[in-house]
Formats: sequence, structure tokens, C-alpha cells
Amino acid sequence: MTKGAHVPHSRTDTDIFTASAGYADPKRWHEEVTSLRQEAPVVEITGTGIDRLWAVLRAEELLEVERQSELFISGEGCNTAQALAMSSPGYAGAPMKTLVEMDGAEHQGHRLVVNKWFLPGSIRRLDDAITARAQEAISIMESHGGECDFAQDVALHYPLKVIMTLFGVPDEDVGLMLGLTQALMEAQEPEAGPQAQAAMLEFFTYFNDLAAQRRAKPTDDLASLIANAEIDGEPVGDLGVFGLYLVVATAGHDTTSGAVAGGLEALIDHPDELDKLRADPGLIEGATEEIIRWVSPVKHFMRTATADYTLAGAEVSAGDRLLLSYPSANRDETYFEDPLRFDVTRADADRQVAFGFGRHFCLGAHLARMEVTRFYELLVPRLAHVEATGPCVHLASPMVSGPAHQPIRYTLT
Ligand code: HEM
Repeated sequence: MTKGAHVPHSRTDTDIFTASAGYADPKRWHEEVTSLRQEAPVVEITGTGIDRLWAVLRAEELLEVERQSELFISGEGCNTAQALAMSSPGYAGAPMKTLVEMDGAEHQGHRLVVNKWFLPGSIRRLDDAITARAQEAISIMESHGGECDFAQDVALHYPLKVIMTLFGVPDEDVGLMLGLTQALMEAQEPEAGPQAQAAMLEFFTYFNDLAAQRRAKPTDDLASLIANAEIDGEPVGDLGVFGLYLVVATAGHDTTSGAVAGGLEALIDHPDELDKLRADPGLIEGATEEIIRWVSPVKHFMRTATADYTLAGAEVSAGDRLLLSYPSANRDETYFEDPLRFDVTRADADRQVAFGFGRHFCLGAHLARMEVTRFYELLVPRLAHVEATGPCVHLASPMVSGPAHQPIRYTLT
């Protein structure tokens, strides 16, 4: 839609989209962004250090950008930290690329290696394994005896253990994997120090060993599939293999942890909604969509325009950056009925855009949905009581954020 339409657009120098701090207070963030969004669907953000940056705040425009992957590319910086690093004078180029920063044939070749494995039919094979991991997470809650930091003690480990199951690596490696994925997140920040770089190297060594093992003795796990894959008849190569391991390990971890923990926060804040799920656990699958809409754990990805384009009245020029704000689009009042209400029976929840759209559509969307659903199917019928015993502290990150500390008291039957 909107090519040439005369919709007003505005400009803001509030750094709530690119700076980390704003995301630590999601309620306030949403208040500020809601008023911006109601002014204009696409807003120019100044003062960030990135030349000409637009925030895309509504769902239709976000989809319009994502749908046109040749016009709006990922390879010139797929997030704001990367764009800033790229524009700094000493930038020496990225040592490697993962799916999220690839375009065109390169993206397609790498995506095809793993795409089939993550389709709903394949993911259904993992149902028992995921249910077992969800059960393990509930057992951790039991072992804490009625009080825990849900984000740290439960939600952080569950999706990571699912990923480890996918890769076929042993549970003993959980501490190592956790440390490395977290260090890697830090490594992506422009101010990352040598420690983060060292973690990256350690990760490379770990995954390189894994690939060597799976080449020597292939199994039916995801690690084997990637290690032995070919693109256009050629082996993927060490960096390509590492990139695929890395993107699955990192993209599949704190995103889903954020959804699980943010889901519990929403249910605690809206006890009537929790009661609805208790009364009818059949609602949980639909509630998963609402939880993911509400939490939107991925805060943004970015695209670069390759040609001039009018987006909802905003005159975007070739070379401009567009920040796709998933949490904002998921509260879009022109797209959802009463979007500021958390409603586990919401009829339009499956229109949520938290997984993006188009060629980069989240590879793990079906897996993530299954993880959230299985967890709450096991938890809700047993959760006689739950309350917050302190403030829920959210991670300050402009990329992926959710509850980091979440003290709760609960009774499991
Ligand atoms: C609730 C949990 C999750 C959310 C909200 C989420 C969200 C996203 C978003 C917004 C994108 C970018 C989409 C775009 O640019 O159009 C993405 C890409 C991706 N996600 Fe997820 N994700 C989640 C869970 C997972 C899981 C569990 C995995 C893997 C096991 C995963 C793997 C990936 C990969 C590999 C990509 C890159 C795809 C590409 O560029 O082709 N994600 N995800």
C-alpha cells in the first residue's frame, strides 16, 4: 500500500529505539512509542549516530518492508549496533556472516540447509523431547520449594536445553553453552572488549569440534545435518557451518526464554486471564500467540533501502536504514482490535508479527510456539497460586529483551 500516500510522518530525537536503557522498562517504552505511532506509522530518528534512520512502527508497513527483500536488504547491517560499527572509521569488515545478515542467493543457499528441519512436520517429531524438557523445567520449580527467580532459574535454561537436544550435545555442556551464548550477545555490542572476542573464539572451537565429530560419525541430529551439508554441490565450509550453528544457538535461546518468562509476567499481571487458562487448558495454544505478541522478545531488526521509496508518506532514500519495531507493530491499533489489552482468547492474536515475515521469517517460529505451549500446558493445570514477590527486572537490550530477574512465590499441586 501507501506508495505516494500523504500520511504525515514525524521525527524524534528520543533514543528509545536504539539505546538499551529504554527496553528495561517496557511499560514506559510502550507508552512513549504508542504516542509516536499514533502520530505516524514511520518516524525518523535523529541523534543516534546512524545516518538517516527510520523506525517502522506499524504492522502493515513492517510487512511492506519485509516483503520486499531486494529493495530492503539485511547485509548493510541487520541491527543498529552493527550499523553503528559499520559506520565507525576503524571498521575492518565482519569476520563472518550468519543468515540474518545475508541477502539474495547467499541467504537462500544457507537457509535451505536448515529450512526443512524446522518446518511444522519436522518439529512435530520433537514433541516428546520438548515436552520432557518442559517437564524438567517444572521439576526445577518444584525443587525450589515455592519461591524462585523464574527468569533465571527456569526460563533461561529451558530453551537452551531444547537447542542442546536439537544439536545432540550433552547436558554437561549447559554451563558452557550458556556462558558462550551470553558472551556472544555482548560481543555484538560496539563496545565489546577482548573478553567477548575470546568467547567467540571458544565458541568457534566448540562448534568446530562438534562438526568434526559429526562428519566422522554422522547421526540424525541438527549438528550432523549442518556439518555435512552442501550448497550448490559444495561443502558449506567451516565458517558457513559455524555461522549456522551460531545463529540457531543464539536466536533460539534468549528469544524463547523471553517469551516464557514474559508470558508468566503477563499472566501474573492479568490474573483473570490465568483463570481462563485454568478453566480451559485448550486455550493455551492460542494463548501462546497472544503471549508472543505481548512480549515480542525480539525488539528490532534493521534493513537498508537500495532505492528511494515512499513508505506511508515517509520519503525514504536509497541508503537509509529502517528499524523494524516488532513490539510496536504488535501493539498497532490499526491492525489489532484493542491491542493494549492482554487477552488469551484474542481472535486476531495469530496475526502477530513477532517472528517477522518474508525470506527472513523466523526459522524457529514453530519450535518456539511448541516450547511455549508445552510449558504452559504442563504448568497451568498445576499452578494453584502465583504472585510476584518483587519487581520484574527487564534486560536492557535493543535487540532481544525480556525478564532478567523475576522473583515469584507459587504453589504447585
Ligand atoms: C519467541 C521466540 C522467537 C522470536 C520472537 C523470534 C523472532 C525472530 C525474528 C523477528 C526474526 C527476524 C525475522 C525477519 O527479519 O523477518 C528471527 C529470525 C530467526 N530466528 Fe527467530 N525468534 C524466536 C525463536 C527462535 C528459535 C527457537 C529459533 C531456532 C531454534 C530461531 C531461529 C531464528 C533464525 C535462524 C533466524 C534467521 C532467519 C533468516 O534470516 O533467514 N528463532 N526470529
